[in-house]
Amino acid sequence: MKIAIDGPAGAGKSTVAKAIAQKMNFNYLDTGAMYRAAAYAMIEQGIEPSDRTAVLNALPGLSMKIIYKDGVQKVLIDGKDVTPYIRTPRISRGASDIAIIPELRLKLVDIQREVANTYDVVMDGRDIGTYVLPDADFKFFVTASPHERAKRRYLELKETLPEADINEIERDIIARDETDSTREFAPLRQAEDAILVDTTEMDRDQVIAHISAMISGAK
Ligand code: C5P
Repeated sequence: MKIAIDGPAGAGKSTVAKAIAQKMNFNYLDTGAMYRAAAYAMIEQGIEPSDRTAVLNALPGLSMKIIYKDGVQKVLIDGKDVTPYIRTPRISRGASDIAIIPELRLKLVDIQREVANTYDVVMDGRDIGTYVLPDADFKFFVTASPHERAKRRYLELKETLPEADINEIERDIIARDETDSTREFAPLRQAEDAILVDTTEMDRDQVIAHISAMISGAK
């Protein structure tokens, strides 16, 4: 079984996807972490994620693997777990920039489809329902107002990044949404057969209960 959860930055997709996966005993795949890890790998080599030519040259050498350790996803680059280093604003922007490049996307989509062929999966991202898993059993498009999304990201970030600034996060989120939804290849878009879930006025538990009810109601 395959469940696709798409939506813009900071909409709470990963929290919901993780909880649903746990409830159903499925694997959770955070595809955003893969774009983040790709940006991290490029930056480590001194390559700007927006430098298409340099990224394309480095692409054959990019070795990414997804593993699950105690049920938790880790992204390995050259065998090293980079998961702890990919949640900074610099990497968020880099991920959005690198995600424009179709060749890079195709490489990551191959890995994503392989995970979906191996496990029952809840996958979150931007193009899961429209491109990666068009035949998913359930598709949800989870969103919230930009201000609400910035507030949630801020609360999450400030634990590890005390200097986090809510206004900067909101500007960042709006800029990333714009980059993600206007790119030519596999942009951020609600699939025609996806269920829209606007979480602006909902808390985490309400969203999880709402989505779980739709899945079990349809089964
Ligand atoms: O979901 P997250 O904020 O971690 O994603 C980081 C960036 O990766 C997004 O802004 C987007 O540009 C890119 N992304 C994508 N397609 C996906 C998942 C993420 O383009 N399926």
